[in-house]
Amino acid sequence: MCGIVGYIGPRDATPVILAGLKRLEYRGYDSAGLAIIEDGRIKIRRDVGKLSQLESLVEESPVSGNIGIGHTRWATHGEPSARNAHPHLGMTGDIVLVHNGIVENYMELREELSAEGAVFNSETDSEVIVHLVERYLSTNGNLVDAARNALSHLRGAHGIVMISSKEPDKIVAARIGNAGGVVVGMGEGEMHIASDMPAILEHTRKIVFLESQQIAVVTRQGLDILALDGRTIDYQVSSVSWDPVSAEKGEFKHFMEKEIHEQVRSLTETISGRIDFRNGHSIRLPELNLTQKFAQDIRKIFITACGTAAHAGMVGKVLIEHIARIPVEVDIASEFRYRDPIVDENTVLLAVSQSGETADTLAAMEEGQRKGATLWSIVNVIGSQAMRISDGYISMQSGPEIGVASTKAYTAPLVDLYMLAILLGDLRGTLDRKSRQKLVDDLRLLPDLAGRCLDREAEVERLARELIHVNHCLYLGRGINMPTAYEGALKLKEISYIHAEGYPAGEMKHGPIALIDREMPVVVIAPRDPWYEKMFSQIEQAKARGGVVIAVATDGDQTIADIADHVLWVPHTPWLLSPVTTVIPLQMLAYHIAAQRGLDVDQPRNLAKSVTVE
Ligand code: AGP
Repeated sequence: MCGIVGYIGPRDATPVILAGLKRLEYRGYDSAGLAIIEDGRIKIRRDVGKLSQLESLVEESPVSGNIGIGHTRWATHGEPSARNAHPHLGMTGDIVLVHNGIVENYMELREELSAEGAVFNSETDSEVIVHLVERYLSTNGNLVDAARNALSHLRGAHGIVMISSKEPDKIVAARIGNAGGVVVGMGEGEMHIASDMPAILEHTRKIVFLESQQIAVVTRQGLDILALDGRTIDYQVSSVSWDPVSAEKGEFKHFMEKEIHEQVRSLTETISGRIDFRNGHSIRLPELNLTQKFAQDIRKIFITACGTAAHAGMVGKVLIEHIARIPVEVDIASEFRYRDPIVDENTVLLAVSQSGETADTLAAMEEGQRKGATLWSIVNVIGSQAMRISDGYISMQSGPEIGVASTKAYTAPLVDLYMLAILLGDLRGTLDRKSRQKLVDDLRLLPDLAGRCLDREAEVERLARELIHVNHCLYLGRGINMPTAYEGALKLKEISYIHAEGYPAGEMKHGPIALIDREMPVVVIAPRDPWYEKMFSQIEQAKARGGVVIAVATDGDQTIADIADHVLWVPHTPWLLSPVTTVIPLQMLAYHIAAQRGLDVDQPRNLAKSVTVE
């Protein structure tokens, strides 16, 4: 989704902003632009298409100065075009801004401003903001106050960054609600601003996160944070340890491929430091702030998330209910926020989110908090909003995930949820010492098992070659591997544009079976888990209707080998951890089909890495 970068300091802002935008390309966008104050005047370059288009534009018509802002746009109001691309300039030519989010009342504001004489040059909702700022500047002449006044008219969630040629010593930014983050990077004699940390980490690790309803006034010398009423607010500077180099593709063709292969490391990191071997293999999740009393008082856990993260939550439900015997409901965040859920102080709302900035997930968290639930989150991006508003959190330890299709940020939370279930089981007394030791010992095998799945990539790639022309695909799973079917189907559809559906296998006979023929492969997740026998009969039902069956099965399973058309083998994995190994061949299958179709795997059409609008 839209990305923002800003710079003020002694260097030429143009290359700094272009490099920052490049780091945000993974978020998905359709146009890009920048504005620089050059010789006291605002100069804009912007165009539709990839960042390389903007780079060429800047090469043909250079622009330079010590202060500027840039943006990658993911269209919401108005088609992707040069005139709708940000930054948006006001009528005086003195103010320019970039915006993430949606101005929900933009139609009425546009009418109001037009009646006052404002002329609009784009179809965007964002442009009303610059006209509003100009309205107030014309009366009191101060950028910060004009911005504060303008903000009071906006409905919806926003991240806004603006500069003025009349006050070229500052960048003014604001965060209202959850339309992505606004982070300020404190450099040496220079300052950076961005929607996401990867844009500025190569310059500084000293980061300040803007909270909702706050305004940042950024100068070369430092930062002031104000409330919307103008009061100065104290802030904390966080030190961030992410390595920007890990956001490079290295030897891999795509980030997604790299991230699939990083799973051995990310699973190892996820586990490491969290098992206390001196204390009977107990689990340590200190950031959760969980006491024995609270663990015993929990009556219900709602897991809320979107997309892939929601699939991880579905596995979590099986784990927590089985190990800790706490009732768990999994809610798609965009539904939870509007369905008036029954929540009280003995309820935990657990959000799972790679980015920690997904608007629907944050809104669901706020709804849970309003109703008195304790908020927990499992989040990959350190310092993200979801992490900050939680009463306790587990960090995924996956490192930055750049590919839009989530892979390592799916398997890491599976392990986090497994560890959480053990910890809860321990504290609630549903798990004896011996069972806990067995569960923890199983966990230690996981990175190696994941590695053995990755070793079979060549076989998966061969199968992908046979499947590149299919138009539809059905994925079936049951029990703890039902979400694996959903996730396998999501991976295929989002990057290869092949229609794929994930279904609980037992539901096949209630409808989808009508679709089965030679043209529609059926991917059946059938490892040796407690649902194995049941899955076997699903395979027979599909075969009896002429279906082509691709089975994900445990090494050495001759019965499956005899009946399925193709088998993707996985090593024997304890069943509670099996969703980690069964999903890896499906990630690789989706990847190789999309790559062989020549598609933009890392930035599939219409998708964004973190979805910061409703
Ligand atoms: C995953 O492949 C998707 N692109 C998408 O479903 C994603 O998981 C979802 O948007 C949630 O994102 P989050 O984890 O950042 O909250």
